Amino acid sequence: MDLHGKVVVVTGGAQGIGLAIAERCAADGARVAVWDLRAEAVDAAVARLRAEAQADVLGCVVDVSSMASVQAALDATLAHFGRLDGLVNNAGIVADAQLRKMSEAQWDAVIDVNLKGVFNCGRAAVEALIGSGGAIVNISSIVGLSGNFGQTNYAAAKAGVLGMTKTWARELGRKGVRCNAVCPGFVGTAIVKDIPQHLIDEMVKAVPQGRMGRPEEVASCVAFLLSADASYVNGATLEVSGGLTL
Ligand code: NAI
Repeated sequence: MDLHGKVVVVTGGAQGIGLAIAERCAADGARVAVWDLRAEAVDAAVARLRAEAQADVLGCVVDVSSMASVQAALDATLAHFGRLDGLVNNAGIVADAQLRKMSEAQWDAVIDVNLKGVFNCGRAAVEALIGSGGAIVNISSIVGLSGNFGQTNYAAAKAGVLGMTKTWARELGRKGVRCNAVCPGFVGTAIVKDIPQHLIDEMVKAVPQGRMGRPEEVASCVAFLLSADASYVNGATLEVSGGLTL
């Protein structure tokens, strides 16, 4: 994809799918701002991106669940690059428990990052994106489409992200901003590290392609949605799951 001249923010960009998205955007010519909670991981990701793509990369330590933190990161990003063309809302956490055992703290933690965090970043960045005719890509999940055992909080947040995506597509389409969602299936990253191997094996059996996805396979779809090649794609939900929901 051609992302030359574009400035892209990737939240949760220090590892996993977010890092793969940042790497892909940089490889496709974008200047990238990595927004993540963990300072050391941000530094490592920035160093890696600079080495790999010789790209102009900015790292921001930010908690997406805090509007003040997000606004500070946006200010730093605009001060550094002078514009914003793409926002990838990728930061996410899990705190699993069945409904009968889920605590209020588990509910709040996941909603604050995975749902409110998307709102915070979209709200802060919207004017800059209108100014550039930019694009938003929200990383939801197939769990937001079909629910999942033990994930009341996560499923609610990811379904909410799909609702926000469609709302923003309607509100911002005439302003020149497109907004789309990507729903990954099972992707081999840290977020699935606590799932026992026998459950992973069961999950993989249900995937028509017979394997987990790779972060790069999500990243390439995000790069497409950010690029001019997707110029008439707005409000879409793109599943990247090996056919899991068929
Ligand atoms: P990961 O756990 O490897 O990476 C998540 C990143 O988000 C980390 O770098 C973390 O520091 C950052 N982060 C967490 N809380 C934050 C906060 N409050 N503010 C800023 N950054 C924060 O996870 P992974 O697998 O790369 O997931 C990325 C996205 O993809 C998430 O939204 C996740 O829900 C979604 N997803 C992942 C799937 C998978 O199978 N790995 C499947 C479907 C969706």
